[in-house]
Amino acid sequence: MSIEIEVVNGAQFRPQAETLFRQMEPHVTKDDESEPGWARVTWADPDLRILIETDDGELACHAGIFFRTVIWNGQKVHIGGVGQIATHPDCRRRGYASIALNAAVHTMRDHDTAQFALLFCEPHNFEFYSSRGWQPFGGTVFAEQPEGKVRFEAMAPFVLDLKRRAPALGTLDLGGLPW
Ligand SMILES: CC(C)(COP(=O)(O)OP(=O)(O)OC[C@H]1O[C@@H](n2cnc3c(N)ncnc32)[C@H](O)[C@@H]1OP(=O)(O)O)[C@@H](O)C(=O)NCCC(=O)NCCS
Repeated sequence: MSIEIEVVNGAQFRPQAETLFRQMEPHVTKDDESEPGWARVTWADPDLRILIETDDGELACHAGIFFRTVIWNGQKVHIGGVGQIATHPDCRRRGYASIALNAAVHTMRDHDTAQFALLFCEPHNFEFYSSRGWQPFGGTVFAEQPEGKVRFEAMAPFVLDLKRRAPALGTLDLGGLPW
């Protein structure tokens, strides 16, 4: 089976991504207190998206790419981000998320001045990212939410070197919604 990998505009291809997200595991609502912390988070929209389609034209995998000037230990730094990585349940363990993540990293390296990359993930995905070169960020992250700036602890931050070595510690203020 062949696949097609595209880098597309985030806003323009939002409907396609949302169709895939609706096909994922049962949906959670922001009001359900029993759901994990991330379910109640207001997330940023990606600037770009990686889409992987199978040869029947179905969207099998998605990764969002984000660019943001953040404040790290009081200094402005332009960084890249990856989020909303999702593979259709019928298409898992074929390497699609690995390909999408790799394409996202190449896109950040090639098309932007992002100094390092940041993503957030749950414990069951730590191994997936750490085996692909991402390192835990042990510092503190702040992000905007509708109620104002909050310490962001809903998911764990991981970083990857791009143009410079990614920090392992310090205070990182995303200056906007998390991804
Ligand atoms: C996490 C998720 C994105 C992984 O997607 P995926 O397309 O199955 O990922 P991959 O196929 O690239 O890799 C998954 C595993 O399958 C293995 N794999 C890849 N190709 C394979 C193949 N042809 N045969 C068998 N195993 C394979 C990979 O080695 C990997 O295992 P590893 O992490 O131990 O190395 C997917 O499970 C998902 O959508 N989960 C729900 C949403 C989610 O948690 N997203 C992450 C948000 S941070």
